[in-house]
Amino acid sequence: MSSLYIHIPFCHYKCSYCDFHFSVNKKSKDKVIDAIIKEIIERQDYLQSKELDTIYFGGGTPSVLSIEEWVKIFHHLSNIYTWNKNTEITVECNPEDVNIGYLLVLKNLGVNRISLGVQSLNDKVLAWMGRKHKVAHALKSIKDIQQAGIENFSIDLIFGIPFYDMKNLEKDIYFLLNQFNIPHISAYQLTVEPKTKLNYLVRKKKISFANEDKVRNEFLMLHDTLNNKGYLHYEVSNYAKEGYIAKHNSAYWLQKTYCGIGPSAHSYNGIERRWNVSNNYVYANSISEGKIYYEKEILNANQKFNEYVFTRLRTTFGCNLNEIKVNFGEKYAKHFLDAYSKNKAYFEVDEKNQKYYLSPSNGYLMADKISLNFFVV
Ligand SMILES: C[S@@+](CC[C@H](N)C(=O)[O-])C[C@H]1O[C@@H](n2cnc3c(N)ncnc32)[C@H](O)[C@@H]1O
Ligand code: SF4
Repeated sequence: MSSLYIHIPFCHYKCSYCDFHFSVNKKSKDKVIDAIIKEIIERQDYLQSKELDTIYFGGGTPSVLSIEEWVKIFHHLSNIYTWNKNTEITVECNPEDVNIGYLLVLKNLGVNRISLGVQSLNDKVLAWMGRKHKVAHALKSIKDIQQAGIENFSIDLIFGIPFYDMKNLEKDIYFLLNQFNIPHISAYQLTVEPKTKLNYLVRKKKISFANEDKVRNEFLMLHDTLNNKGYLHYEVSNYAKEGYIAKHNSAYWLQKTYCGIGPSAHSYNGIERRWNVSNNYVYANSISEGKIYYEKEILNANQKFNEYVFTRLRTTFGCNLNEIKVNFGEKYAKHFLDAYSKNKAYFEVDEKNQKYYLSPSNGYLMADKISLNFFVV
C-alpha cells in the first residue's frame, strides 16, 4: 500500500483549542509550496510503489490554497505518481473556503473525498472555539460538496464542550443526520493542548473544564446514536457508513508505509519513523539549501509491538494473534495473551479470525489506559 500525506501549514486564524502545526502569517506561502514540491520530487523513491492508494492533504487548512496552487501541486504529483479511480484523494477544508466552483476544480484534479471542519452545530460554541464560520456556512458547504458530486466526505465534530449540554449535542446530531446523508463522521473529544488559548484559560481558571462523566456520557451517546443510524464505530473517534471507512487513516492504524511531505509531516517505511521540522521558515530554507530538515528514529521490535497494540486497540481491526506470532514471534504472542487475560472485561474476541478488539463503547473509552497494560518495556 502506498500513501502520501501532504501538510499545508497555514490557517486563516488560530482556533482556541488547536496545536496542529500551522502559521496564520501567509507571507512564506509561495516559498513553502515550492519547498513542498521540491520534497515531493526529492523523496519520490521513499515509497515502494509509484501507484498511490491514498493521498491526503491535511493541515493547517489546505483550503487556503488557490486554484493555481492546487493545479501546480497536482501537476508535479502526476509527473511522478499514478493513481486511479480507487485511489482515495482527500482534502481537509474549512467551511468558509468552500464553494461549488472551488470543489469542482478539486474534483477535476482527482480529489474524491472532502473532510469538512464543521466542529459544532451551535454558533455560540463556534465563536467560543474561535472559528470564523457559522453553522449556516457549514450546512451550505455540505450541500455544496453533495452538489459538486463528491459523494465521499467526512465531517469533523468536537464534543466535551464545557458549557454545552449533552441534550443539545444530541439534538444537533439528530438534526444533521436527518438533514443529510453523511458517509463518515470524525467526533473528537475536546482536549486541552499546551500553547493554546484554551490551555491559558483553563490555567487561569477562567474556564472550568468538562468533567469526566459528561465526556463519557457524550461519547456513549454519540456511539449509540450513530450506531443506531447505521454507522460503524471503527476507530475511537471515527464512524463510517458501509464502504466509507477512511483508507488513508486506516493505513496508519494498520502499520502500512506512508510518506509525509511538508513541515511537521511524519513518514514510516516499516523500519524508520521520520518527522519533518515544525517550522515553515526552517523547513523551506533547509530544503532550498539542501540541509537536513527532519529527524528520524529506527524502531526496535518492542517499539513496533507497542505501536501495533496501541493503534490496533483503538480500532475494530483489533490485534490478531496470528499476525503477532508471524511478525513479532511467540514471545510477544505469549505476552499479549497474558495481558489480555488481565483485561478481558473490556474485550470482544472474534475467535474465527483470531482477532482481539476493545468493545467500541466502554472499551474504546479506556483504550489508552488499556494499551499501556500491553506494552513491552
Ligand atoms: C488538522 S485539524 C483541522 C482541519 C481544518 N483546518 C479544520 O479546522 O477544519 C483536524 C481536526 O482536529 C480536530 N481537533 C484539533 N484540535 C483539537 C482538540 N484540541 N480537541 C479536539 N479536536 C481537535 C478538529 O476537529 C479538526 O477539524
Ligand atoms: S482547527 Fe483547523 S482552522 Fe483551526 S487552527 Fe486548527 S488547523 Fe487551523
